[in-house]
Amino acid sequence: MPRLLRFLLLLLCGLALITGIGYVALTRTTHRWFEADLRGRSLLVVTATKPLLARNWARGHEGLVATLDDITRDERVMGTAACSLDGERLAATAAYPLDFGCRWVLARLGDDEDSAEANVWTTTEELPGGRVHVSAIRLASEGKDLGRVLLVHDLSYLERREATTRNILLAAFFVLSLGASVITMVAERLAFRVWTRELRRALSGDVPRGFKPLVGDVRALVERLASERDREARGGAWNPERLRSTLTSHLEGERVIILANREPYIHEKTPDGVKVLHPASGLVTALEPVMRACSGVWVAHGSGSADKETADARAHVKVPPGEESYSLRRVWLSEAEENGYYYGFSNEGLWPLCHVAHARPVFRAEDWEHYVRVNRKFADAVCEEVDTEDPIILVQDYHFALAPRMIRERLPRATILTFWHIPWPSAERIGICPWREEIIQGLLGSSIVGFHTQQHCNNFIEAVDTFMESRIDREANAIVQGSRRSLVRPYPISIEWPVHWLEELPSVGACRRSVREELGLPEDALMGVGIDRLDYTKGIEERLQAVDALLTRHPEFRGRFTFVQLAAPSRTKIARYRELNDRVEALADEINARWGGGAYRPIVLLRAHHEPPTVFRYYRAAELCYVSSLHDGMNLVAKEFVAARDDENGVLVLSQFTGAARDLTEALIVNPYDLGQAGDAMAAALRMPEEEQRERMLSMRRMVSEFNVYRWAGRMLVDAAELRRRERVSGRLSAPAVLARAMGT
Ligand code: G6P
Repeated sequence: MPRLLRFLLLLLCGLALITGIGYVALTRTTHRWFEADLRGRSLLVVTATKPLLARNWARGHEGLVATLDDITRDERVMGTAACSLDGERLAATAAYPLDFGCRWVLARLGDDEDSAEANVWTTTEELPGGRVHVSAIRLASEGKDLGRVLLVHDLSYLERREATTRNILLAAFFVLSLGASVITMVAERLAFRVWTRELRRALSGDVPRGFKPLVGDVRALVERLASERDREARGGAWNPERLRSTLTSHLEGERVIILANREPYIHEKTPDGVKVLHPASGLVTALEPVMRACSGVWVAHGSGSADKETADARAHVKVPPGEESYSLRRVWLSEAEENGYYYGFSNEGLWPLCHVAHARPVFRAEDWEHYVRVNRKFADAVCEEVDTEDPIILVQDYHFALAPRMIRERLPRATILTFWHIPWPSAERIGICPWREEIIQGLLGSSIVGFHTQQHCNNFIEAVDTFMESRIDREANAIVQGSRRSLVRPYPISIEWPVHWLEELPSVGACRRSVREELGLPEDALMGVGIDRLDYTKGIEERLQAVDALLTRHPEFRGRFTFVQLAAPSRTKIARYRELNDRVEALADEINARWGGGAYRPIVLLRAHHEPPTVFRYYRAAELCYVSSLHDGMNLVAKEFVAARDDENGVLVLSQFTGAARDLTEALIVNPYDLGQAGDAMAAALRMPEEEQRERMLSMRRMVSEFNVYRWAGRMLVDAAELRRRERVSGRLSAPAVLARAMGT
């Protein structure tokens, strides 16, 4: 409830309470006044007529009635009566109420003849026609008691007066309430105007001293929001053109150099000749469209069996095949280098270190040595590719923690943007790596170190704080070492929009039919899909167990629901990956044995590399997609599923431990360890009305289309440009000539 409304309600309640109390107090007081008044009047009347009454007392009715009638001429007096000392009624006016006879009154008077009450006694009584006031006044003459004169007053006029008082009070309450409300609102308006005038004055620079730091913050915030809004409004949606123009206008660059271990195109020898493969890698999914938009060079490990023969003498190949908009520079590694740097330190050390998936990292000194050497090799390759002194270099992922510093040493003016595609864990966890300082120091060679989430940024800053000599500028989220500064920023990665693979794909209906046909499923079969590298961080075992839970807890899906897992074998030289491979297969068999029958298998495990068109066909064919990562920096499968569903149908079931769960809040978010919950979520997805599916999907599609990978890259480039500008200004300011001038020499 708005504050003003709450205040007004309180004010009105207060006024009502005061009016109520006032009304009760007022009626009680006026009652007392009226009673005292009647008592006085009765006494006055009897005293005034006393000589007449006394004279005629002995004559009884005849002698007294005329005088009593005179008394009742006052319209408020209902009747009067004269009573003898022993309670006989001597005379009474015609309308005297019989209820208050002489004996009735004498019985209430008591025996004490000397008391004040014995002289004037009054009471208020209720009659069917209304309230009356009865008074009994002693009549004496020449020191001798004669009896009592009774007067009965009609009190209905008193009730009329009370009603009038009540009405006046109610009217006063209304007038007061209205007045108070109007005054409050006018006062609040005025106060707001004064406040905004003050704020505007403050923001325009005319600020009292003590208020300055706060005003500085507010001003910076306002400026940032305004410039962001302007920038967004001016630039329109993020797409390849906008990214390109950001690169040229903000960084005066035409090309970028990407350093990433995985290459976007792998040439493989097959029995049918050389084939180009697109690797299963979130990093490649995100960066390849950026590269196509920007042009430049992608430096990567040449890992394909036909890579050498398809590259030129300088290990370059133009890609994408047929389009050739940028260069792929391949770096050749010996088997020992690959084992130590890639399989060893990167994937048995850093990968399990950074993912909380309960796998122990293995740190071998010889792996580390390879890691250092290979980082240098790649850094050298990058430096060979640059054609200016201040190139823009995008270093990618945990394979190259040392390369940023190595490049910086050779190219001090380079803009190095490093993005860590996997989670960055707590300082405590990072602390178990024997080379934690070297890794952090290596990363701090970057102009910007990017992570998917603010939490990962905080963890990184915490690690710097714990293990390094540096100054942390918490306000700017920057690490300062000497004259160098590295910004630490969250940039949630995304995918291209629209996804170019969809251009060639048939309609959702056709994809549904072809996939069901391919798998031998009935046309009306319900289908879930999971797409991953076979990696223990992806929670594939938990996912299959959740399917088991679904069938146990929701029998109506037995025989109708099939979960199709596309699993690309990955890093199979590592024992842990091979073991996972076997466990997943055994689990699928076990679940199929439990629930399958005839042609029906609840789990279809397709263990092979699948090219993007197949992957997208499966996304389009399924009722649901379950992403069950136990820990994942972002997870682009979730975003790809959303992009694939231009029919606005299909439900995403998503692990809460992915970065994507922060962006795709309309997914059914689950804890992948809670098998029952995940099974229930899949059941809910299968039962979800189309209308609800559409609402959720539309909202997620809006999110992914707006926050696409061009925006991700664009924001990093804009921040880098800003940093570069600042460094140039501070470089000029600290130039020897300026210093000399300042010192007057
Ligand atoms: C993750 C990493 C990427 C990597 C991908 C595939 O997404 O962050 O750097 O490319 O996994 O792994 P692979 O080892 O096959 O390149």
